Amino acid sequence: MVSAFPLASLLVRLERERNTVKRNPSQSRTLVSFRTALAYSDRMALPFGAMSGMAAGSVTVPSLRAGECQVWWASPAAGRSELLALLDAGEHARWSRFRRDEDRARYLAAHALARLVLAGHLGTSAAELGFSAVCRHCGGTDHGKPRLLTGGIEFSLSHSGERVVLAVTRDAAVGVDVEQLNPRRDVAALIPEILSATERRALAALPAAASALALLRYWTRKEALLKATGDGLAVALSTITVTPPPAPPALVAWAAAPPLEAEAHLFDLNPGPGHVASLAVLGPRLAVVERDADGLLAALPFAGSA
Ligand SMILES: CC(C)(COP(=O)(O)OP(=O)(O)OC[C@H]1O[C@@H](n2cnc3c(N)ncnc32)[C@H](O)[C@@H]1OP(=O)(O)O)[C@@H](O)C(=O)NCCC(=O)NCCS
Repeated sequence: MVSAFPLASLLVRLERERNTVKRNPSQSRTLVSFRTALAYSDRMALPFGAMSGMAAGSVTVPSLRAGECQVWWASPAAGRSELLALLDAGEHARWSRFRRDEDRARYLAAHALARLVLAGHLGTSAAELGFSAVCRHCGGTDHGKPRLLTGGIEFSLSHSGERVVLAVTRDAAVGVDVEQLNPRRDVAALIPEILSATERRALAALPAAASALALLRYWTRKEALLKATGDGLAVALSTITVTPPPAPPALVAWAAAPPLEAEAHLFDLNPGPGHVASLAVLGPRLAVVERDADGLLAALPFAGSA
């Protein structure tokens, strides 16, 4: 497992090393550049909810039009305990295994959000929706791309830091990824695992202050693609090449196996300050509409939710 998924094992190691880094932060050039990136992202990001097309505080699920991808943003704090009633036994068991409150809150907000939005689009009960997660590589049933048993709507979930995100559409496979800018994480160690040779050259040409943010942008664009296909980190991120940030997002080369089965479209999302997020769509180019979900999660009992 460890040798098959070097990025996953590296991430675990980096999390373990966080305390060491915390004790001696002034010695890391990457940490300094990450702090600069964080400050830059906070200055440049639109306040959450201010971007065009975002409906703040919505308590209904607007219909999902043909050619549209809805992207719903929630905060972990919206994952209040009343929402547990929407989860099935497997989700409930997984929620209860998280040791940290913030992990439980993110998980609950994400899964309740997925159930509420999907049920709203299908005109059914959120608590009764059934999901599968079959791995396309080994057939395992607990780590593949989550799908509705009934089909009909494609979706993808991601959660990191203060953001929880759900992408839904009727028209194409989708993958979404959000990552928090974490000044304590030594992302430079991830470069060989994340970037292709072309991308490494492009990153090296950037000023140090821009490179940490650019690296995270590369990461989210590529992980979004691998979540759209369902491969996840079973496929090495470095086998994919995307356009260099801040260029508009697009796939440049896919050397991974299995090959892509549909045209890929990438979008940079706006998660708000301190986070970077990307969306991948495999199929036709869709119109992306970002929405605030906190009102929806706060609005239980919700028509059609239980
Ligand atoms: C999918 C994956 C890249 C997500 O990583 P992450 O950045 O830590 O987490 P994110 O918050 O962005 O996404 C998590 C969500 O992705 C979804 N997800 C899980 N596996 C997925 C897959 N294979 N494809 C697409 N989406 C997946 C789930 O909804 C998950 O939410 P949950 O943990 O609340 O159930 C990573 O978990 C992965 O690669 N998993 C499968 C790896 C594996 O075990 N492969 C074995 C092959 S034999």
